[in-house]
Amino acid sequence: MVGGGRDAFIGAVHRKAMALDGQIELVAGALSSSPEKARASGRDLGLADERNHRDWQSMLADELKRPPEERIDFVSIVTPNHVHFPVAEAFAEAGFHVVCDKPLVHTRAQAEALVATVKRQGTVFGVTYNYTGYPMVRQAREMVRSGQLGELRKVVVEYNQGWLASHVEGSGSNKQADWRTDPARSGAAGAIGDIGSHAENLVASVTGLEIESLCADLSALVPGRMLDDDGSLLLRFNGGARGVLIASQINTGLENDLRLRVSGALGTLEWRQERPSELLHLPHDGPKRILTRGSPWLCESAQRASRLPAGHPEGFIEAFANIYGGVVADIRARLAGIAADPLAADYPRVEDGARGVRFIERTVASSASEAKWTAW
Ligand SMILES: NC(=O)c1ccc[n+]([C@@H]2O[C@H](COP(=O)([O-])OP(=O)(O)OC[C@H]3O[C@@H](n4cnc5c(N)ncnc54)[C@H](O)[C@@H]3O)[C@@H](O)[C@H]2O)c1
Repeated sequence: MVGGGRDAFIGAVHRKAMALDGQIELVAGALSSSPEKARASGRDLGLADERNHRDWQSMLADELKRPPEERIDFVSIVTPNHVHFPVAEAFAEAGFHVVCDKPLVHTRAQAEALVATVKRQGTVFGVTYNYTGYPMVRQAREMVRSGQLGELRKVVVEYNQGWLASHVEGSGSNKQADWRTDPARSGAAGAIGDIGSHAENLVASVTGLEIESLCADLSALVPGRMLDDDGSLLLRFNGGARGVLIASQINTGLENDLRLRVSGALGTLEWRQERPSELLHLPHDGPKRILTRGSPWLCESAQRASRLPAGHPEGFIEAFANIYGGVVADIRARLAGIAADPLAADYPRVEDGARGVRFIERTVASSASEAKWTAW
């Protein structure tokens, strides 16, 4: 693991998700930007001294010195965004499989370079767009794919949070806010990169629709903020469907309010991250129904993504673990020299991460432009 040291947010979630199915063992790390904190964090987690590194460069060098059968199988990158590219590129170039958090990298050129490296090396590369790991999101995807909604017409996705509703950055009390509002570390976008990228991925994963053009309005509503904290977009998809995407971190009182509504000629689906075990199906010509996680009438992909019987709550960490499960299935298939079972190796790839980077870039361009409608 690179990143995820003491006081970090998502690295600890990754480790819990990795541990859930007993398939992954954390054996090496460079866990913090400060060498001392990196080593202290590794000791907390019981890493062997010789594999508890002060920086990722020494970890990579050390792994390459080991005989292939002793090396790590993959690296997880859970640092702030600006560190993703150099680490991902170096490990992929050295032939390691990679899991990287979103947004993948800062620029389209970096994204293209990374896609090319992964392709050349033939390695596995997963991006932790974890919301697509929820069973009921997979059920929604299957219902769209099998035509139960008919031709898609309208998609509304909202990702609302309130934790950046005041100027918390720079106070010394919230390092997650510090780097997310700093263009050098976050990238060209704030909220649209941090959570809008999840919204884009959720839409793409569930509907399969491709954005043809978009019209964006990004603002920094908290005075003195350097990057957007609120964004509203209109989307036009290939084939004619229309969409609305909202990503905002200044919605006071809202927590992690990601929600998706997809309407086709035959009906509508609605899903909310804060009630992840329910999928609302509203057929045009029939009674409304609530589908629930763990039920035997769900599609195989949704059933496989569930660990407990219906009514026993599962959530964020389980969905995250499903992304890791997909990566592990793909790595195991490669080690065995067989084709991966597509239902098992179900996880967002480097190309999905690269599309997310393009989405951020086109959104920022549209918001800055007077013409507004911006081609993909
Ligand atoms: N998938 C999700 O739901 C989700 C949720 C939160 C964050 N994220 C993403 O995860 C990443 C981390 O976010 P966070 O909120 O955990 O950040 P954080 O600030 O809490 O933690 C970042 C960690 O990376 C370490 N780090 C920084 N530079 C490093 C370097 N050069 N080498 C090694 N370690 C280094 C820091 O010391 C810290 O331990 C970001 O890319 C963010 O967008 C994803």
